[in-house]
Amino acid sequence: MILIDGKKIAAELREELKKEVSNLKVKHNKVPGLTVILIGDLTPSQIYVRNKEKSANEVGLKSEVIKYPDSVEENIILDKIQKLNKDETVSGILVQLPLPKHIDRQKVIETIDPSKDVDGFHPMNVGNLSSGYESSVPCTPLGCYLLIKKIEPNLNGKKAVIVGRSNLNGKPMTQLLLKENCTVTITHSKTKDLKAECLEADIIVAAVGIPELVKGDWVKKGSIVIDVGINKIDKGIVGDVDFKEVSKNAKAITPVPGGVGPMTIACLLKNTIDCFKRSQI
Ligand code: GUN
Repeated sequence: MILIDGKKIAAELREELKKEVSNLKVKHNKVPGLTVILIGDLTPSQIYVRNKEKSANEVGLKSEVIKYPDSVEENIILDKIQKLNKDETVSGILVQLPLPKHIDRQKVIETIDPSKDVDGFHPMNVGNLSSGYESSVPCTPLGCYLLIKKIEPNLNGKKAVIVGRSNLNGKPMTQLLLKENCTVTITHSKTKDLKAECLEADIIVAAVGIPELVKGDWVKKGSIVIDVGINKIDKGIVGDVDFKEVSKNAKAITPVPGGVGPMTIACLLKNTIDCFKRSQI
């Protein structure tokens, strides 16, 4: 069984990105810039944003975090995004989610220039991804995709089952695997027999937010299992996969933590660099 070491693979990716940034600096005499907007003081968001900033600095990006109180008015945020859209030193803009209730999330996402949308959440990027055109791809599914490709470079004809149909994970994951010629089944809370679906899979991506939902006898021998879940329960942090039992059948599996998580931030840096490169053409 291969334990997919997301921490190590993310560190390798960051190393590659660091070299790329240094080459871009020589070529263009400037470096890609990432601006993160953080509204409110939710602890998980603060931790994520701090990690994003730290990693961005580590690979040599220009990084900026703009903080607003929870009570900030929506138009202040929209005006700021419009300014950042016009700012040539900003290659990528990320507004940390979740947002306070009085701020319209979709309006915020749609105000970001699609060419600076490092989250890949703008409808134009969503559409481009589903049409198979070049686009920013949401960081978590992109990270999962890179991990899967490390284990199995040729995905032609593989059966993939995605557990969870969110816009952040399940749907873009489907598009990425379809592009690789997988046969993809997307499952969700109303799926009739989730176990039977999972048993068909060569690749399972669990991104549903239910602790240890995917059991050992749901997984056929030799499958690749990617666990996107981060769930806090009494015994600590667990994924959406029963790691101990599923590892007995899987060919390769990601741990939680230390699997998908580190890849998400590395992919954000990659997206920022890719936005910069497209803007220089
Ligand atoms: N909050 C949790 N995950 C994410 C993410 O991938 N992007 C943004 N913008 N906010 C998040």
